[in-house]
Amino acid sequence: MILIIYAHPYPQHSHANRKMLESATTLPDVEVRSLYELYPDFNIDIAAEQEALSRADLVIWQHPMQWYSMPPLMKLWIDKVLAHGWAYGRGGKALHGKNVMWAVTTGGGDGHFDLGDHPGFDVLGQPLQATAIYCGMSWQPNFAIHFTFVCDEATLDAEAEQYKQRLLAWREVNRG
Ligand SMILES: Cc1cc2nc3c(=O)[nH]c(=O)nc-3n(C[C@H](O)[C@H](O)[C@H](O)COP(=O)(O)O)c2cc1C
Repeated sequence: MILIIYAHPYPQHSHANRKMLESATTLPDVEVRSLYELYPDFNIDIAAEQEALSRADLVIWQHPMQWYSMPPLMKLWIDKVLAHGWAYGRGGKALHGKNVMWAVTTGGGDGHFDLGDHPGFDVLGQPLQATAIYCGMSWQPNFAIHFTFVCDEATLDAEAEQYKQRLLAWREVNRG
């Protein structure tokens, strides 16, 4: 099962992420948990999240980039759900061996991430990558759509199709 942990603060206003989800969910065995719709009061049901994670083979952390980082409910989800004794620490092996992928959309393009001494876009996934590795998960190459501020509908449709193809390719490699 592919589990998409989706953190968009305004899902009803989304263009890029909405198209990605529409495309991905045409595949069988893809489950989406839209955190801002499930938990508008930020009161995360930890047991329900852990139960969904336990059924997943591939976990996707999907969100729009906000201030070079993730929306706050995504961070809270990590803090609460990846608990000691469950995701890490003594007896914390629930996520061991699962795959994880970062799927992110950004308003900016290259110039937005190459800011003088800043090393560029790829380093922005490192806190998530370190978190995943710490929990015994296998980090997959990320999927990103940039320039969403200027992308037209056709470009976003093509990117959303690429997202679906990435999930299909992952399934092909990890079949059985
Ligand atoms: C509070 C806020 C902060 C943002 N910060 C960034 C940023 O640091 N870098 C960037 O490229 N885009 C940034 N954006 C733009 C969003 O990433 C962009 O609108 C989103 O990825 C588009 O996806 P959507 O159509 O699904 O909403 C920000 C948007 C908001 C609302």
